[in-house]
Amino acid sequence: MLAGRSLIEPLNFSVEEMDDLFALAERIEEDGAYLRDSCRGKLLATLFFEPSTRTRLSFEAAMLRLGGSCLGFADPGSSSAAKGESLADTVRMAAAYADAIVMRNPKEGAALLASRYSPVPVINAGDGGHHHPTQTLTDLLTIKRLRGKPGAGLGDSIGGLTVGFCGDLRFGRTVHSLAKALARYDNIRLVFVSPPELQAPEYITRLLAREHIEYLETGGLEEAMPGLDVLYMTRVQRERFFNEEDYIRLKDTYVLNREKMKLAKKNLIILHPLPRVNEIAVEVDADSRAAYFKQAKYGMYVRMALLASVLGVVD
Ligand code: CP
Repeated sequence: MLAGRSLIEPLNFSVEEMDDLFALAERIEEDGAYLRDSCRGKLLATLFFEPSTRTRLSFEAAMLRLGGSCLGFADPGSSSAAKGESLADTVRMAAAYADAIVMRNPKEGAALLASRYSPVPVINAGDGGHHHPTQTLTDLLTIKRLRGKPGAGLGDSIGGLTVGFCGDLRFGRTVHSLAKALARYDNIRLVFVSPPELQAPEYITRLLAREHIEYLETGGLEEAMPGLDVLYMTRVQRERFFNEEDYIRLKDTYVLNREKMKLAKKNLIILHPLPRVNEIAVEVDADSRAAYFKQAKYGMYVRMALLASVLGVVD
């Protein structure tokens, strides 16, 4: 039962609870009338202290499609945070007005802190370079839908797959959350492709070693391509760099283009949490293996499933 629960990092929900969410999301996708109006009278507060297109809009679309309503801010400059109000007080206020809170904040740990002050569920929409668990739900649902076996749970769907992550694995919170979530499944192999400065944090690789997950770290995308079933491209996170010089030096290390796609399996799926900057050439969008726009749409269905669940309108 997810009613009343917060989601701060991917491991807050069990494998079985995630399977239930994916099944619910697939049912919502198949039947546009299912759960329509189930959240009538309920309010979702969206507190975005950092920019967002997909996460905020897909949460708002999800709540509106469920018949509920949204309030909040997309720019902290328009909130009393700009006058020095603490996060704890902002969250207490949002919880007084709304039935659930979705929050993005540049500080790692902000969502956990918020959940300690909130009597209503808090959903982490990204806390600095730390976690982005609803992106992970989106990513896993996309892999299940595009590479899974019909009717199977996620574990059976993704067993045997090799998942590659490419780009900024150091600051990319979506990478940290997805790798952590994948470490719970057997028979999966991860390949991390990055320059040395942008390697995945040690806490992630230590976790993989502890869980006996096979993984490889490399700098070469071309060498890795032929073995991959899923390629998760990421943007170099300019906003988390300490200096602009390093960002400029590293930002175009990997650019996936038509030439590189020739090295890949015919049934590879290319994911990207988006926004994309330069790391996937626009020419790749026409390739049937490019799944990043579908992925963004699955994000809305899984967020509908999540909201309906934490608000207690479904079992
Ligand atoms: N994937 C993602 O978090 O996108 P936004 O930053 O646009 O929300």
